Parts: sequence; structure tokens; C-alpha cells
Amino acid sequence: MIPITRPALPPLTEYVALLERVWSSRMLSNFAEYASALEALAADYLGANCVLTVSSGDVALILSLRALQLPPKSRVLVPSFTFNSTVNAILWNDLTPVFVDIDPENLNIDPADVARRVEGVGAVLATHVFGNPAPVGELARLAGGVGARLVFDAAHGYGSIRQGKHVGQFGDAEVFSLSGTKPVTSAEGGLLATSNAELADRFRYLRAYGFQHDYNSRYIGLNGKLSELHAALGLLTMTRIEDALAARRLHVDHYMSCLASVPGVTFQRVSADDRSTYKDFAVLFANGEQRYLAEAALTAAQVQTKRYFRPCHQMEAYRQYSHRSLPVTEDVYRRILCLPLYEDLEPDQVESICEIIQAAVGLAVISERGRSHTSRRPVTAGQVAALSRRR
Ligand SMILES: Cc1ncc(COP(=O)(O)O)c(C=O)c1O
Repeated sequence: MIPITRPALPPLTEYVALLERVWSSRMLSNFAEYASALEALAADYLGANCVLTVSSGDVALILSLRALQLPPKSRVLVPSFTFNSTVNAILWNDLTPVFVDIDPENLNIDPADVARRVEGVGAVLATHVFGNPAPVGELARLAGGVGARLVFDAAHGYGSIRQGKHVGQFGDAEVFSLSGTKPVTSAEGGLLATSNAELADRFRYLRAYGFQHDYNSRYIGLNGKLSELHAALGLLTMTRIEDALAARRLHVDHYMSCLASVPGVTFQRVSADDRSTYKDFAVLFANGEQRYLAEAALTAAQVQTKRYFRPCHQMEAYRQYSHRSLPVTEDVYRRILCLPLYEDLEPDQVESICEIIQAAVGLAVISERGRSHTSRRPVTAGQVAALSRRR
């Protein structure tokens, strides 16, 4: 089985060495040595004024919106093509999500659709999809033009660069995830990066039940603290972020060259002056049938894939906020497939995956020709599986 992701862990001895200090200090939490060090290291790397640790990216998103103190029910523009945590953060704050479509090539929120809907909204919450930086400048202009706040879901973006600046420096706040699928991981964890001192101050209270040292709540907070055990792991993975991203980039380049000759296959477009973390490597097929055949063939060959992201506006929990179709989001979801990507993926595994895709897409093309000349029966997933077993 080739999994879609596999965390790169430091040598256990290095982690144990850090844990020994926790065992002697008995400081398990409350932003002691390791959480504080993680905040300082991240702030330095990201070039952000203030970075605060949190127990997850999900909680960081909820608290970042809470810290904005928007009036209840305020509308928040959000892409439907994101992990549902982004949308949940809006609803946990008693705000109203307004779903926006995406760009068909870079898969980020579409500024033209934002422009059509931004009047009167309280905030824009945009995702750096798969680590590909969102159009931060255009969004800042659009949000700023109507006095709306701008927050980025940078769950995938630790190490992403937009026109020479690290993701983490944009908008009112940016939120990172340190969960096990991310290049920097603390097993579970998150970060808030912001240059807004007032927002940072509120966030500091909110992540610690609402109070600081006097047990006198200033806000209605929750427990969003990152433990020292998690922070220690985060520190070890964070110090080697550039190596982690370089390894991912090599695999991505290899995938792209192996798939270059497959008809109809394209990739998420990353602008030449930006850097993506490639938290996920997304392939776009010419149509849903080709995607389905490739997906079925890879599954039969024990290769795990994911169809990130299922559009939120079509999910049961959010249907009442979905008032129109989002044609690009819906089309991309039909055609997209994320392939295995992790540091110790072997080059020959990449090649096998590409061969399976090549064969499946070839069958789809034959099937299309067959349908136009003879029968209208499509090639079945079983046929593709048999073919991929033979290879
Ligand atoms: C886009 C996006 N936002 C938010 C989250 C939530 O982060 P976490 O898993 O750290 O709670 C994820 C998780 O992968 C994500 O992909």
C-alpha cells in the first residue's frame, strides 16, 4: 500500500532528549520552554510580528475570527473549495458563510467572484489551497475597499512564499495547521501569525479559557493550549522545513515530468514568483471519467488517493448557506485527484503511479473512441484494475 501521506519524523532519540527536560521541569503545558521556543522560531522564519501556538489549526481558525469581534451573523466570504474546518470556524462564531468560486487553474479563491460579493461583508476568509499562495494583494484591496477584515487559512502554507514574502505576513491574521499531514507537524497543533497587536492580545486570552494570570476572564475563551510534548515535536520538524519542502518539490517535479505526456492531465498552477509547499499534489484530468478510471486503477493497485476538496456548499451541514451553484468548484471536484506525496516516497513508486495513470487515461481515450464508433459501453474499473495488475 502506498499511502497518500506519511509524516517525516525526527529520530526518536532526538525527541526523547527533549522530553527528558519536560520530565525534569514537570512543565507539561502553559506555554513553557518548547511552546515559547516554537513561537519564536516560527515568527523568525515567517517574518511575522507575532506567532502564537494553539492546540490545532481548527481551533486557531475559530479563535482568529472570534478575536475580530464581528457583529453576529456578519457575512464572511469563503471558498467552498476548502477543508470544512474553514467553514466551521465561521459558523462556530455565529457568522454567515457566503460561498465563493475558485480560479480553475490555481484553485484559489477567485478575486472576480469576491469582487461581485464583497459589498457589506464583515470578513474574507481565504485558503492557500494545497500551499499555493492565494492572491493576497487583490484580496487585501477588495476587503480593504469595503472595510472588511481579511484572514487566511494557511493550514497548508507553512513555508509558502508569495512574491518574495512568506505566507504568515498577510491579512489581519494567518492560521497554520501542524497536524500529522503537514510538512511541519506537532502531531496536532496550530499557529496564529499576525501583525495586529490588538488581535494578538485577544487571541492570547481566548486560547487560554479567556484569562491570563489572574483567573479573571476577560473573554469567553476555551482551552486551545499546545502542550509541551506537542511543541517539542513541532520544534524538531520545524527546524528542517526547508529540507522537507525541497524533498517534496523533487517528487512533484518527477511526477510532472512522468505525467507530461498523458493526454488531458494538468496540474495546479503555481505562479513563477511564488512557492507552494505542495502540502498536496493535485492532478486535474480532462473530465470526470478519466479521473474516475485513474482513481479506480490506483485504488486497485493499492495506491491511496484523495479527492480534496469535496465542495462545502454541497455538504449537508452547510446546504442552507448555499444559494447558487459554483461551476468552477464543481467542475474541478469532478476532475481532481491528489496523489501520494511524502518525503520518503521512492522515485520508482512515483513512476509506477504515473504508469497506472497513463494506462487508465489511455483506456478512457479508447473508450471514448469506442463509444463514438461502436458500443456506448464505458470501460469498467475492473478492466482498468486488471490492466494495472498486469503492468
Ligand atoms: C484547509 C484546512 N484548514 C483547516 C484545517 C484544520 O487544521 P487542523 O487539522 O490542525 O485542525 C485543515 C486540516 O488539514 C485544512 O486542510
